[in-house]
Amino acid sequence: MYEVYGIIGDPVSHSLSPVMHNVAFKELGIKAVYGAFRVKPHDLARAVEGIKALNIKGLSVTIPHKETIIEYLDEIDSVAQEIGAVNTVVNKEGILIGYNTDWIGVIKAFEVKNIDLKNKKVVLIGAGGASKAIIYALLKKEVKEIEVYNRTFEKAKILEAKFNILAKPWQELKNAYGDIIIQGTSVGLKSWESPVQEEVISRFKIAMDIVYFPLKTKFLTSAEKYAQIIDGLQILLYQGIEQFKIWTGISPPIEIMERVIYEEIKKLEKEIFV
Ligand code: ATR
Repeated sequence: MYEVYGIIGDPVSHSLSPVMHNVAFKELGIKAVYGAFRVKPHDLARAVEGIKALNIKGLSVTIPHKETIIEYLDEIDSVAQEIGAVNTVVNKEGILIGYNTDWIGVIKAFEVKNIDLKNKKVVLIGAGGASKAIIYALLKKEVKEIEVYNRTFEKAKILEAKFNILAKPWQELKNAYGDIIIQGTSVGLKSWESPVQEEVISRFKIAMDIVYFPLKTKFLTSAEKYAQIIDGLQILLYQGIEQFKIWTGISPPIEIMERVIYEEIKKLEKEIFV
């Protein structure tokens, strides 16, 4: 019998998680399939019941459910609790346990590029759900300083209080400088926009974007003239690898998963942008 895994979110139609996890199951000879389930916010409670009823073994959780799913879970891992967001669920005989692997994805994405985060000054744009895991990762790696700029200042202030970092007014982004700049908003997703001017980006040696569609966002296109860049698919890949390990206890084939998601994004870009 095949076991079932999947992603819940809205939207999920362009999620790369199904190709990434299915190729890993296949490669390892694990009898399992991974699907994409569009779940609207008002259906989340019923979806969680469905997971139990259908005995779905594991889930990825994405926008907009990473925070709201917490109240429906039976247990939550201490790190996910500290971050305040869940991106991974395990169904252990009807007990749903929430984890967060986004922060590990962020750390791994820097590590594989041999970037040492220790003592760096980081400018983070955005104070949404993704930013929490990014900040947690940066603090774990002992960066020197984190400045968060967000369109809605109050949300940056909440992160300032939660993580003891510095919230900066949006208008001051034009004066930002440091070692690493991270684009952590949804700006640039399926559009040719960047929340920050190229002149500002040019002051940094390392630039990361959480957006991966298009793969080379406007932000990264500016950044690669001045900096080493890390695209959003790297975070997706490494958070997915950690999920896979939590679900199965097995290390999945990273190179194959990486290849299929990069191939898939190229296909999607052709369909949507050309
Ligand atoms: P995620 O979980 O991906 O972080 P989110 O919690 O909805 O998603 O957060 C989206 C982030 O993108 C927020 O920081 C949001 O800024 P606000 O807090 O002001 O809403 C940011 N964002 C979205 N659209 C933006 C825009 N047009 N300009 C600047 N920031 C934007």
